Amino acid sequence: MEKTQPWWKTAVVYQIYPRSFQDSNGDGIGDIPGIISRLDYLQFLGIQAIWLCPVYQSPNTDNGYDISNYEAILSDFGTMKDMEKLIRLAKQKGIRIIMDLVLNHTSDQHHWFVEAQKSKENPYRDYYVWADPINNHAPNQLGSIFGGRAWKYDRITNQYYLHLFSEQQPDLNWENQKMRTKIYQMINFWIQKGVGGFRLDVIDLIGKKPLKMITGNGPKLHNYLKEMNRSVFAEKDLMTVGEAGSATVEDAKKYSGPDRNELSMVFQFEHLAIDQQLGKEKWDLAPLNLEKLKQVFVKWQVELAGSGWNSLFWNNHDQPRIVSRWGNDKQYRVVSAKMLAILLHMMQGTPYIYQGEEIGMTNRPITDISEADDIETINMYQQRLNEGYSKQAILASINAKGRDNARTPIQWNDELNAGFTTGKPWLAVNQNYQVINIAAELANENSIFYTYQKLIKLRKSNPILSQGNFKLLEDTKTEVFAYYRQLENAKWLVVCNFSDQINEFNLTDDVEKVIISDYSDLSLAEMGKNISLQLRPYEAFVVAVKA
Ligand code: GLC
Ligand code: CA
Repeated sequence: MEKTQPWWKTAVVYQIYPRSFQDSNGDGIGDIPGIISRLDYLQFLGIQAIWLCPVYQSPNTDNGYDISNYEAILSDFGTMKDMEKLIRLAKQKGIRIIMDLVLNHTSDQHHWFVEAQKSKENPYRDYYVWADPINNHAPNQLGSIFGGRAWKYDRITNQYYLHLFSEQQPDLNWENQKMRTKIYQMINFWIQKGVGGFRLDVIDLIGKKPLKMITGNGPKLHNYLKEMNRSVFAEKDLMTVGEAGSATVEDAKKYSGPDRNELSMVFQFEHLAIDQQLGKEKWDLAPLNLEKLKQVFVKWQVELAGSGWNSLFWNNHDQPRIVSRWGNDKQYRVVSAKMLAILLHMMQGTPYIYQGEEIGMTNRPITDISEADDIETINMYQQRLNEGYSKQAILASINAKGRDNARTPIQWNDELNAGFTTGKPWLAVNQNYQVINIAAELANENSIFYTYQKLIKLRKSNPILSQGNFKLLEDTKTEVFAYYRQLENAKWLVVCNFSDQINEFNLTDDVEKVIISDYSDLSLAEMGKNISLQLRPYEAFVVAVKA
């Protein structure tokens, strides 16, 4: 058993999408002073760190993931003074700020790219990825993640540049040592400001070999991460989490293995790919297969234990709202949101809560593409229309998977614009804010909020959650997701009914204590040994049992 664990192994991280969190000056855009004004709320929730989505200077083609200056704050969000104040005040409340580092690409308005475009001889040219045309065409068929080709022709120099995302997001060339050094200096700039760590955007792409059609997991990826670690992270008490869409368990061991000196952990997406058709895009919907979901979680829980570290998440700013996706956002919204929370937060790893998840915020359906804001959605809409899909089918995909679902403003109360802004919100507030809002949650002791608050507390004070082993109960009904956590003499049983139907569960353990449950009337008296329980829709509980 490990004696002293790094802080992030018992921490829960809260993700803020600043544009939608809290507006302080009525321009309809969330900002840093707005976040500062809500620190008390976050402290009350109990989280230890905030992952702050990009707040840097950016033309906002991809809402901040197109950075034009890494060392300046976007004026919509405030000033560097505001940022320093946020870091300081959060620290006083025991909350660390995790910055979002976008290192795979910059904005086309970053001065490096503005220079690079001028000529082939420009000293910044090689900071980006350029290739000659082949027979007057793009060098190859490589596609952009946001639709179309990943190569954009540049007339001035008769070459193509690479953009794995939008044309306004040219890819950095990680083979260039000078560029890497500049990046490390920039990261140090933020470390000196006192941040608690970094989330590294699409980090699995930096080792790309585009002419060989290799994007994720390129040959030098881990060399770069080791170099980055030596140059900036080593010997500092930082949490680092890499976004790695391509990561398998074996890859995750490389990124996060205790002796590897790369990152603390990665975000992998295998569990969130289950409701898409195999080998197709996320827009190609498939029903959730619960057996598959169990298999994926079991694999990550069991195989990474001791040789790496998991991140645990249902949501982020790129994913639809989990209660709408795999819970039930109508009749069983509250109880299904709690079940999903309990299921995830009892596992080993570092849990992430995406803003609004803690009150069960739901997807926001649209009926016309004019209501969409996200570049990924808009590009896909156009592309699929051209390919002959019906509007109806495309909108169904958007409503199920579109990124705007998670990006609507936070619903603070039932007043004008849900208390998010006094002006016109940059993206429409979800119409259900009069029912679903933070003020209402705080006033109700049985709310989803208090389930999250309790889960965060449990993690802090129970080493079984950070260190215990994980074992699935195999002989249950498919709809029942149940597992044990065990650390020495402590053993917890987690039981979740992942369904809107009643399901039977055979309890064979000696129950000692109820740790948490999502129906408030669950009693120990009903929990004798060898009894068959009728689990109610989305019922979930955790009990301490005899080891
Ligand atoms: C990551 C971000 C996403 C962004 C993309 C390009 O996946 O989470 O929001 O669009 O990278 O930077
Ligand atoms: Ca504002």
